[in-house]
Amino acid sequence: MASSLFFFLLTSLSSHFLPLSILSATVVEDLANLTPPPDFSTTITTNCLRDPLLRYCNNTSSSPMDIVEIFRSTIVASHLCNESKNPNCVESFPKIRINSRPKTAALYLSFDFFWKYCPLTVVEIELVNNSLKTGFPTNVLSCAQIRTLDLSYNQFSGFVPVQNLSKLPNLTRLNLSYNRFSEDKISDSGFFKRFNASSFIQSGVLTNVKRYKMKVLVLLIVFPLMVILLCFCFGWICLKRPDYLPRTCRRSNKFTSAMLDAATDEFSDQKLVSKTNRVDIYRGTLRDGTEAKIEVYTEKVSREKRREFAEECEAVFKLRQKNLVRVLGWCNGRNLRALVTEWINGENVGTWLSSSSASSWRRRLRVVMGVVEGICYLSEQWPEITFDLSTSGVLLSDEDQEPLISQFKIGDGNNSSTNIFKFGLFLLEMITNLRPDEEQEDSERRYLEYIRVHYPDNLGRVIDEKMKLEDRSMEQVKQAITLGLMCTDKPPLKQPSLTQIYDMVVSLYDH
Ligand SMILES: *[C@@H]1O[C@H](CO)[C@@H](O)[C@H](O)[C@H]1NC(C)=O
Ligand SMILES: *[C@@H]1O[C@H](CO)[C@@H](O)[C@H](O)[C@H]1NC(C)=O
Ligand SMILES: *[C@@H]1O[C@H](CO)[C@@H](O)[C@H](O)[C@H]1NC(C)=O
Ligand SMILES: *[C@@H]1O[C@H](CO)[C@@H](O)[C@H](O)[C@H]1NC(C)=O
Ligand SMILES: *[C@@H]1O[C@H](CO)[C@@H](O)[C@H](O)[C@H]1NC(C)=O
Ligand SMILES: *[C@@H]1O[C@H](CO)[C@@H](O)[C@H](O)[C@H]1NC(C)=O
Ligand SMILES: *[C@@H]1O[C@H](CO)[C@@H](O)[C@H](O)[C@H]1NC(C)=O
Ligand SMILES: *[C@@H]1O[C@H](CO)[C@@H](O)[C@H](O)[C@H]1NC(C)=O
Repeated sequence: MASSLFFFLLTSLSSHFLPLSILSATVVEDLANLTPPPDFSTTITTNCLRDPLLRYCNNTSSSPMDIVEIFRSTIVASHLCNESKNPNCVESFPKIRINSRPKTAALYLSFDFFWKYCPLTVVEIELVNNSLKTGFPTNVLSCAQIRTLDLSYNQFSGFVPVQNLSKLPNLTRLNLSYNRFSEDKISDSGFFKRFNASSFIQSGVLTNVKRYKMKVLVLLIVFPLMVILLCFCFGWICLKRPDYLPRTCRRSNKFTSAMLDAATDEFSDQKLVSKTNRVDIYRGTLRDGTEAKIEVYTEKVSREKRREFAEECEAVFKLRQKNLVRVLGWCNGRNLRALVTEWINGENVGTWLSSSSASSWRRRLRVVMGVVEGICYLSEQWPEITFDLSTSGVLLSDEDQEPLISQFKIGDGNNSSTNIFKFGLFLLEMITNLRPDEEQEDSERRYLEYIRVHYPDNLGRVIDEKMKLEDRSMEQVKQAITLGLMCTDKPPLKQPSLTQIYDMVVSLYDH
């Protein structure tokens, strides 16, 4: 009945005013040029009397009937009917179907007045594959009687007005597939029972309320948890294994217990190189592959001492000289204090002295010269240092035979007199290839006594026989022994200063 009424209007339009067949201009031109015929208001009044349910028959003071808009909507209707290839637009207008014609579809969607007075005969709306990029076209919902709504293959976005769609009682086929709608917190699960998943293929809409809730759960709970976990991991890495951080975001000189644990296979015996009552020395491999010597100080110390330890480590870390082993960093943990230096492949001077390659005085003197240069640099840079100079603590690198002082006595305070004493012992050992027997009590005193007994006339007895000394060298060696004995003077009355030592060794070396 509605359809005949609508077409009564169209027919009356065509018969009294404009036959549809000659509506040849475009809809836009017609909208601009055509004006309602004089009897148009009579026509719609007649129509409304016949069917007051017609959408335009709402003549109230709050929403008065707009004759011009109704007229314009009939013009659009007549064009749209033809565009949609309805079989006979004079008799029926059941469907709006504009597929794969983006411009036409967009144009007709923009005629709000048409949709407002949507003809009651329309039961099917298809706007498929039109690249429409707006939000959901809510104006089509004015056609509340529709049975089919197909908006697939567009680029609609935003939320789907589920509530409004639910209110359409006759809608049985809905297709929103292949669009870009937003996921919605859709509470109306009935809506999704009415239309199954094939209405929402790749539409952006989540049809499964449970899945939606899962997503919300993930976003609200799991995601923050992940973030917290990540922060935790990051914090853990920062605290425990900063070597896993990129080089630029960490202090390369800081080692943690965990890092040293990993470098030394948890301080395994295989990695233990030497052990004294105060220092354990390990050979470890850092994460970047660097071989390192790790000196672990086993003594338990106070918090104050630990602070001093860190300061001293910081100081040795800055030292750079060819006769000092390079300090890579340190660890100052509550349970582990350690100094990490580069690993030098080479033998220590003590071992070297016993080998045949130490038979030249000149070469021994070169080692002494290097050591003196090293300790002068050390005490210049850092007067407070105590160095634990001994033939076993100086290495000859395999590469260039350059002597490298490899042991610092970190955390012992300053004693320059001790330093010079230690150098004296070192020098005497270099000449005699004899050293105090550490097993014995008072060994250093007895050792020095032994040398002094033969000084100065009987020195042949104490000088290492391996050195084949000519007269000139003999003279130098004697001078060196004199220097060694001066350094080891106790109480240190005759002890020379480091500068004096340096000058003397240089003059020996240069002659
Ligand atoms: C109706 O559509 C046909 C093609 O489908 C077209 O040739 C004709 O001009 C159209 N008529 C009007 C009045 O728009
Ligand atoms: C007329 O307007 C009223 C309220 O404004 C609405 O309930 C009714 O559905 C309208 N009639 C038609 C045919 O649109
Ligand atoms: C709408 O109602 C007014 C009076 O309220 C009347 O004058 C007018 O003719 C009516 N319009 C139509 C199209 O029926
Ligand atoms: C959409 O329209 C284009 C032409 O505008 C056509 O090539 C394409 O096959 C159409 N796709 C579908 C799914 O209809
Ligand atoms: C739904 O269809 C029935 C039967 O065709 C019809 O009576 C009813 O008016 C339609 N509902 C709407 C809102 O058009
Ligand atoms: C959709 O429904 C809401 C309330 O349910 C209403 O406020 C809004 O005007 C409706 N929109 C359309 C286009 O029908
Ligand atoms: C989905 O509903 C349509 C009718 O709207 C029906 O043809 C189709 O078989 C249904 N598909 C599934 C998987 O239920
Ligand atoms: C919606 O359109 C897609 C693509 O053409 C199709 O695969 C799907 O079956 C349609 N769903 C319904 C309910 O018509």
